[in-house]
Amino acid sequence: LSSQSLQLELLLSGYALRGELQVCPARRFCPKLIWRWTCTDRSGTPVPAYYVTTPVFYVNSLPHIGHVYSAVVADCSHRYKILQGVNSRFATGTDEHGLKIQQAAATTGKDPLTFCTEVSNRFRHVFRRCGISYTDYVRTTEDRHRQAVEQFWTVLVNNGFIYRGSYEGWYSVPDESFLTETQVVDSTDSLGRAIKTSTESGHKVEWMKEDNYLFRLSDLRHKLQHWLRSNPRVIQPEKFYYIVLQWLESDLPDLSVSRQKSRLQWGIGVPGDPEQTVYVWLDALVNYLTVAGYPEQHSRWWSVVHHVVGKDILKFHAIYWPAFLLAAELPLPQAIHVHSHWTVQGKKMSKSLGNVVDPLETSLKFTVDGLRYFLLRQGVPDTDCDYDDDKVVKLCNSELADALGGLLNRCTAPSLNPEQVYPQFCNTSFPKEPEEFNGRAVLEDYKMVEAVLRLPALAKENFEKLHAYKALEAISGCVRMTNGFIQRHAPWKLNCRKTEDKLWYDTVLHVSMECLRIYGILLQPAVPSLADKILSRLGVGPGERSWDHALDFLSRYEGRDCPYERRALGPNTGLLFSRLERKNVQEKHQKPGK
Ligand code: MSP
Repeated sequence: LSSQSLQLELLLSGYALRGELQVCPARRFCPKLIWRWTCTDRSGTPVPAYYVTTPVFYVNSLPHIGHVYSAVVADCSHRYKILQGVNSRFATGTDEHGLKIQQAAATTGKDPLTFCTEVSNRFRHVFRRCGISYTDYVRTTEDRHRQAVEQFWTVLVNNGFIYRGSYEGWYSVPDESFLTETQVVDSTDSLGRAIKTSTESGHKVEWMKEDNYLFRLSDLRHKLQHWLRSNPRVIQPEKFYYIVLQWLESDLPDLSVSRQKSRLQWGIGVPGDPEQTVYVWLDALVNYLTVAGYPEQHSRWWSVVHHVVGKDILKFHAIYWPAFLLAAELPLPQAIHVHSHWTVQGKKMSKSLGNVVDPLETSLKFTVDGLRYFLLRQGVPDTDCDYDDDKVVKLCNSELADALGGLLNRCTAPSLNPEQVYPQFCNTSFPKEPEEFNGRAVLEDYKMVEAVLRLPALAKENFEKLHAYKALEAISGCVRMTNGFIQRHAPWKLNCRKTEDKLWYDTVLHVSMECLRIYGILLQPAVPSLADKILSRLGVGPGERSWDHALDFLSRYEGRDCPYERRALGPNTGLLFSRLERKNVQEKHQKPGK
């Protein structure tokens, strides 16, 4: 303790947390003491931090496969960062205010909070079931969030970005969005009546005229353009970056950021004005700051925030949100990762079409890993993808059951590995230089080893960009090569009574298991339970599964010791992934009475 500060140090298995008591910079005029924490490793180097978010999900409808996709993409990134030794935080939650929730609650006859709690719990349940390992679950009806929104609003007012005005224009309740004349078109409803709809979402819009508060969005156009031009990779994929730049070239009127309380009661009141409610998108976007600890403790996490969003909410995240942050003098997001949508037979999922894919039912039919693998392997950020049960069955059967499961079986089945160990590697059979010692490995085998040696770097590059589909594609290609390696040398045909054959037999198994160990480590972010099954069966301990452990591939071939050699395998827990049968799947898991 000095006269300046109070410091506290906690040492936790190799990591050190150092805390310092400081005056909160956000409360200069009404000081409050807060702890500032830094996390360092054994050598005193700060541990890098990462904060990934999903959008908060509307509670007017139940979770579907599209929502789970946003969450799985973020979850995969969070798990990948942890494997890298990064201190990662992952937030998700529910968006519970606004007109459409107010209306949805009214149709059920429940009071809004009871209604929201029920649906929010459904999301939480689905996410837990799907292995979404969030560190924070936020509900916009929580008190901590209300406080964050009130403070954020006050800062915007104090910085001169909010003024009293009146809004007249189009509003879409399903999108909770204000639209300009150019963003609406003439259309007809199901009864043939003339209506106007949003060109982007197709939802019906209504004319609205209200006195409320406006945000000086138009003043921030140049700052937003400057931010984007100086950070050309901030919106991914590039296609969406250019879309946002184009939007900024067109009309950018000031934004209405409140609604009259007489129309919208279900929301956060505007500080100091009992007649107005904060616009639901401003309210919802602040959730990212709430989780980071705004207004008092957010700086550590806020400087490393990455948002995962669907393409339908790009404008809110790439224009409104950075504009609000600029106005509040807060750092802008490190990256906005945009993904496209899942359709069913080419159509948007909707209750009225009856084509909504239920993630719980799907995860029961195909297992959680099957569903996650399908979504991450097939989902591409640039274009919409079509969901189809048959596609899930085909992909999981060929890549998980046959290729990966077959490979594990060939290395560990008691008939092929009677000693149930990680066998020894023999340098004479598989020399580092193909010409040396007349080894038995052929050119194709060297190519495979090269490919697996390069795999972690390739997977890293793609997991960093949240392009899991490319990482999984590369892993799958290597799995195919390793199966080809075993097939080529058919160890089951060798006569193990001959010493030379036995050495080669063990080497083939050792190399294949080393490949599998790398695949197991790299698959952890995408299919955690399946990866755990592989690694546990190989006898790889919990402390041997970090990303760095994947960089130490086939060390015996490189002339170093191998810690796994001669180690007993883990218990045999059966098939890695049972083949899915489309017909059986339908019969076995159909809900009773359906
Ligand atoms: N509540 C807002 C987000 C506020 S964030 C400050 C919202 N909620 S949502 O429930 O409608 O959508 C949440 C996420 O699910 C979005 O990223 C959206 O793109 C995603 N998906 C909704 N339907 C989808 C598909 N059919 N396919 C893929 N993702 C889709 O918007």
